[in-house]
Amino acid sequence: MCGIVGYIGPRDATPIILSGLKRLEYRGYDSAGLAVIQNSSIEVRRDAGKLERLVSLVEKEPVQGKLGIGHTRWATHGEPNARNAHPHMGTTGEVVLVHNGIVENFLELRDELATEGVEFHSDTDTEVIVHLVERYLSTEIGLEEAARKALRHLRGHHGIVLISSKEPDKIVAARIGNAGGVVVGFGEGEMFLASDLPAILEHTRDVVFLESRQMAVITEDGMDLQTLNGEKLEHEIHTVAWDPVAAEKGEYRHFMHKEIHEQVRSTTDTIAGRVDFESGEVRLPHLNLSKEFAQQIEKIVVIACGTASYAAMVGKILIERIVRLPTEVDIASEFRYRDPIVDENTVVLAISQSGETADTLAAMAAGRERGAKLWSIVNAIGSQAMRISDGYISMQTGPEIGVASTKAYTAPLIDLYMLAVLLADLRGVIDKKQRRELVAELRHVPDLVGQCLQREPDIQKVAEVLRDTSHCLYLGRGINMPTAYEGALKLKELSYIHAEGYPAGEMKHGPIALVEEDMPVVAIAPKDPWYEKMISQIEQTKARGGMVVAVATDGDELISTLADLVLWVPQVNWMLSPAITVIPLQILAYQIAVMRGLDVDQPRNLAKSVTVE
Ligand code: G6P
Repeated sequence: MCGIVGYIGPRDATPIILSGLKRLEYRGYDSAGLAVIQNSSIEVRRDAGKLERLVSLVEKEPVQGKLGIGHTRWATHGEPNARNAHPHMGTTGEVVLVHNGIVENFLELRDELATEGVEFHSDTDTEVIVHLVERYLSTEIGLEEAARKALRHLRGHHGIVLISSKEPDKIVAARIGNAGGVVVGFGEGEMFLASDLPAILEHTRDVVFLESRQMAVITEDGMDLQTLNGEKLEHEIHTVAWDPVAAEKGEYRHFMHKEIHEQVRSTTDTIAGRVDFESGEVRLPHLNLSKEFAQQIEKIVVIACGTASYAAMVGKILIERIVRLPTEVDIASEFRYRDPIVDENTVVLAISQSGETADTLAAMAAGRERGAKLWSIVNAIGSQAMRISDGYISMQTGPEIGVASTKAYTAPLIDLYMLAVLLADLRGVIDKKQRRELVAELRHVPDLVGQCLQREPDIQKVAEVLRDTSHCLYLGRGINMPTAYEGALKLKELSYIHAEGYPAGEMKHGPIALVEEDMPVVAIAPKDPWYEKMISQIEQTKARGGMVVAVATDGDELISTLADLVLWVPQVNWMLSPAITVIPLQILAYQIAVMRGLDVDQPRNLAKSVTVE
């Protein structure tokens, strides 16, 4: 979950590294550092705290060179202080390294190195790697071979980048396992590398993603690819389509605000080219789905973490309702350890914005082991989840930088709806007329999202009322139960207000005891099949003196008499309503966090890509 950047070429590496790190800050932001080869020696600058601290340090103590690496950290081993910040240097000062991942056998390796007389200068697991490299470095073997020998000792999942002042014309980068993505970017007489695309998109779109147990030796003229055993490999350069401008904040104060407002475009792009409104046909070509296999599927298990898992819950309702196919939802970190019952007639469908969440990848591997077909709905192009899938649906949202997910929540809701229609069609569950009717509903979504966004000033007023609350309950039923979970998650992660999402029907089995004046209850109650049940819930809350904020459909007079405050949403087909009802809840959480003066794009303790277990 840390961010890594590297540069080699004729330009000064420092500003390129700093601007790359800025774009990767969402991956981790508790310390940052860089190392540049300046006049044949390695200069390291690093500090605790956010990237700005590193930027001021570099202003005070400038460093310049044609080759350098940088890192932004999300601490796993050792406090986020300056001595634990990357890059880490060995004993000789010749080699320096940045790392993303966890060295699972680091205690063992540290003891081994300590008996050899190595002294450690940090509490990190990473430091063992640089000492291991130094162990093998001698005049006979260079950085490349020493790195290969050292890296073979590591257990776990890693992205690793190394430089040496003795070989100032190369960067060595390696990937081991699933979670440490490394992408190499090809320029004209210069080369870039990073843990994720946004860091290098402003320089190049021609890239190679390293696979597990591959090592790249990068010079300003190109790259040699090999396995960790030293076998030479061919590589194919991919040109990525993402627009670097999409990763800029533009007129918005925060990425999250921009991303909330991008949902008209992202929902449009999600649908565009994938449905034929006339015939009602759905096209998801990358799913590689044959009619024969569609008819063979006996069960779908949707796996995901965090926000993506709430999209999965909506997907379960859609697939079961439209396709009549048993569908389970599993939190990826649970699925992998509970010996799940899946076989070759099961589809394991992963949903992931980053496509590199360690638990999700491990759950996919567990599905693969048992013979399941692997599908994924992924945003990050070329990510591991996408690459290991038998078929995928790519979210058409562009990069999502704000740590709290927004547009990468609404996109998969629509993807899952389209998937359900496609499966129902191929399995002969719906006829052409029903197919056309279902697909026709999609056409309205972007416009309805836009209508919700225009109501931001009204939502802001509700945020004013709730800004100082300490607790909040979110209730929903049926297809909007996951909306309650997602609304509560947005509030807690952004504003640090204790918030719980609950299936409204469970209220009477415990949470109702919490209801009092100081406990706002956000009730998601649009005109859907569960509407009347939600009304009873609102009444029960009011009867106990609770304050109710309802998410309700325009023109609902009953709700306006019952609830204290209302977040209005336009009328929408119930199956697509989660993509609409969540919008005011995203804005509400965003506005409350801004009013509380918090760091919206990078909430404390979180990271966007959780590449550790
Ligand atoms: C982290 C992020 C969440 C995200 C979750 C799953 O916890 O902060 O916003 O929902 O990871 O990430 P993924 O990339 O797999 O969707």
